[in-house]
Amino acid sequence: MIVGGTARVPGDKSITHRALLLAAMAKGRSHVGGALTSLDARSSARVLRQLGAEVSPLRPGSVVVIDGRGRLRRPRTALDCGNSGTTTRLLLGLLAGHRFAATLTGDGSLRRRPMRRVTVPLSLMGARFTERAGDGLPLTVHGGPLVPLRYELPVSSAQIKSALLLAGLAGDVEVELREPYGRSRDHTERLLRAFGFLVDEPDGWIRFAPTGRVEPFELQVPGDPSSAAFLVGAAVLAEGGELRIAGVGVNPTRIGFLGVLERMGARIPVEDVTQHFGEPVADLLVRPAALRATEVPAGEIPGLIDEIPLLAVLAARARGTTIFRQVGELRVKESDRLGLIAENLRSVGCRAEVSGDDLHVEGGGMPPRGAVRSAGDHRLAMAFGVLGTVPGARIRVDDMVCAAVSFPRFPEALRGLARRSRP
Ligand code: S3P
Repeated sequence: MIVGGTARVPGDKSITHRALLLAAMAKGRSHVGGALTSLDARSSARVLRQLGAEVSPLRPGSVVVIDGRGRLRRPRTALDCGNSGTTTRLLLGLLAGHRFAATLTGDGSLRRRPMRRVTVPLSLMGARFTERAGDGLPLTVHGGPLVPLRYELPVSSAQIKSALLLAGLAGDVEVELREPYGRSRDHTERLLRAFGFLVDEPDGWIRFAPTGRVEPFELQVPGDPSSAAFLVGAAVLAEGGELRIAGVGVNPTRIGFLGVLERMGARIPVEDVTQHFGEPVADLLVRPAALRATEVPAGEIPGLIDEIPLLAVLAARARGTTIFRQVGELRVKESDRLGLIAENLRSVGCRAEVSGDDLHVEGGGMPPRGAVRSAGDHRLAMAFGVLGTVPGARIRVDDMVCAAVSFPRFPEALRGLARRSRP
């Protein structure tokens, strides 16, 4: 494939969730432009409606209008968070600071994902939880008056961190947090700062104080760098040309994958940087590259956690063996991503293995061919969709529909790159 022209990607998933949640906490009308309209974003909108906010339908290209009531209201029925871990965990934080009970549930994949990582620290703040099925969903949160928290996270995770910061917001208490290694995405911190809350990091601890107020706002969501990563990957594997991906969020806690790709031999200039709501937004310029293997140390993992499936398929086309260190967190994503990356790479003829919590991928060899089991995991499906663009590849992904969890019309976007082909 020869790539060319300019592509755009859907709105940032993490920022969309946070914008919707915060708009529901504001008293009055907020506008969110460029919001992601995927299944996950719809899950946030749906549960916020059950919690008393009015949220206009999420339609591509239209601005989402949210009428918040200043607080959430007791829901009449269980809150179905679909496939969305971010909706669930961030909402648990907000609900911990509301004096009513609410039950959260989700699809089969979400029900199996661990929730104690947020319920344990939220319990220390004073919330109570009734587990219905061990460490997972359904789960009932009984919110109440909260006390301040000083807490070291067991894993570097933006979902845990954000849940606790949002509990601080809803419960009007101070929160101090520390992540064990690396920095997870900091969108919540940036948004809270924009509303006048004190969020600083004097000594490695993130300190939040309820000094601000969430007022109705107008926000434009940038393109999702995690979605852009798949187009970047396809362009790096292409045979020629140059692709511009416009209007992508380039928050430094999200673009660790660009640093890894540079080490692997790609050059991806970041151009025309602007700022909005404390978030940098830019264009990415991508050209094909001959890749070589690299090592990705544990400290870099939180900054590229969602891009590992994509980086792993690119590593399968690189010279040498790439090692991703300490990626055990991938076992508790939308699927057991760690096991499935290795299994699927092997089933398309590549060499990959899991050793303890490390992932080893050996590059090179024949064009990948074979069947891929996505287990309904959007990022696995898209990563192997990208690998399928390699000349001579023949890859069948069992379920590409699941890409709509984060990237509506992904197959069309991928084919769109090929349509830009010139003879
Ligand atoms: C997210 C944080 C990450 C990421 C997920 C979105 C967020 O999860 O994998 O897709 O928006 O906060 P963890 O915080 O559990 O690593």
